[in-house]
Amino acid sequence: MARKIRIFDTTLRDGEQSPGASMNIEEKLEVAKQLARLKVDVIEAGFPISSPGDFESVKAVAETVKGPAVAGLCRAANADIDRAWEALQHAKKPLIHTFLATSDIHLEKKLKKTRLEALDIAVAAVKRAKGYTEEVEFSAEDASRSDFDYLCQVVEAVIDAGATIVNLPDTVGYAIPSEYGEMIRRVIETVPNSKKAIFSVHCHNDLGLGVANSLAAVANGAGQVECTINGLGERAGNAAMEEVVMAIHTRTDLFKATTGINTREIYRASRLVSDVTGLDVQVNKAIVGMNAFAHEAGIHQHGVMQDKRTYEIMDAESVGLTESKLVLGKHSGRHAFEDRLKSMGYHLGKAELDKAFARFKITADKKKEIFDEDLEAIVADEAYTIPSKYELTYMNVMSSLEGIPTATIKLKSDCGDIVEAGIGVGSVDAIYKTIDKMVEAEYCLVDFVVKSVTGGTDALGEVTIKLEAANGEIYTGRGASLDVVEAAAKAYVNAINKLAHYEKLRGNGGKPKDKATL
Ligand code: KIV
Ligand code: ZN
Repeated sequence: MARKIRIFDTTLRDGEQSPGASMNIEEKLEVAKQLARLKVDVIEAGFPISSPGDFESVKAVAETVKGPAVAGLCRAANADIDRAWEALQHAKKPLIHTFLATSDIHLEKKLKKTRLEALDIAVAAVKRAKGYTEEVEFSAEDASRSDFDYLCQVVEAVIDAGATIVNLPDTVGYAIPSEYGEMIRRVIETVPNSKKAIFSVHCHNDLGLGVANSLAAVANGAGQVECTINGLGERAGNAAMEEVVMAIHTRTDLFKATTGINTREIYRASRLVSDVTGLDVQVNKAIVGMNAFAHEAGIHQHGVMQDKRTYEIMDAESVGLTESKLVLGKHSGRHAFEDRLKSMGYHLGKAELDKAFARFKITADKKKEIFDEDLEAIVADEAYTIPSKYELTYMNVMSSLEGIPTATIKLKSDCGDIVEAGIGVGSVDAIYKTIDKMVEAEYCLVDFVVKSVTGGTDALGEVTIKLEAANGEIYTGRGASLDVVEAAAKAYVNAINKLAHYEKLRGNGGKPKDKATL
């Protein structure tokens, strides 16, 4: 029988460490629910001691999500472990994930500890975590650059202390598949109590080998792969979950293994993570890129028409990609709208559905053909929102070949309506400069991306922007509209609302300025 490889998703923890990928608690919950639909085995929801915001997110995921185990990361220190447990205690399946570096360079330069001291700290951490819960994972940070005999000594000791999962990360993405696979095999063979634990791998992508290293480890006995949607993560990212999973599923003949993942949810997960982080998926990205299943060359198209298997090793449907369909029109009712969303995998609450349906009606009035992609943009725009301090209620923009672009804006705020006018070098600049005069916050625009959701001049335009707050935190805003200038305004207001929301939380002891670092 095929071995089952556990999928440990760390999009909400390591993935969120991607520069510019921060998510608010509502967005994290949406992603966590999608991960549950994907049927991952573990959701690593955050690093509870790193900030009150992270703590609240882990707690919310632990209390909400059913199905996967929920993990919280903590350094090998009492306060970290206690805080992780505080966040995880109400989870159906809690998992404490504690880590300590084992390579000499980390021990000497970062931790200033001897090998023996670190060994004792690791054992004590696992014992403390074990006092709270049965499932405890220990990660030997920088395992791939650690002394092999010392690594084995640590692994044996933490298993004796009660670790049920031992993770051997390639923290800096330094390993090469043949040597990493060999390391995993040798550790499992050498450590006398290795049968008592599941061996996990966590590979970074600095040399573009994260997925290859993870698969080499699976072929050599690893029972769990840690990965992220779209390969997000620290620096060049982590192994991409969609690639690891589809490689194992497509080559069961070779791996003699499978995963519990519902692969038909992969595309939606990728799209959702891209929407909430504002980080686009490159068009030629394996599995989820726009071109992953597109055939351009005539000879390929001809082959595929005769038999898909000539040039396709996977079905697009198996990752949840369906042919773009003309779905609904302006006469479609609420039931048809809700049914279509359900068949696309969106299960919205009543309030979110009301907002999305109202928006659909307005869009359908102006745009005859509504495609799945339009619905996705509408849902992303209306459903994953945070409490809004400002609402854009009026906008008039004037722009002409010789004239000075001018914007008049009205925002509804919790202190009443605010109206302002201003000029800029272009329409968007005029809008943004005008809004800047209306809101009390310090930030600067660091990224602006506009794209079209479908083809044609009547396509929905989607704008994603990033604002950097005075404390260096990045807030992503997105907006979709048939008018790209309006989409740009909405994206700006959306990011400002996020900033205002977290500033307020911070004032109440919310997200602090400095996050604890790894
Ligand atoms: O890359 C790494 O080593 C990590 C650990 C904390 C598991 O992210
Ligand atoms: Zn990592």
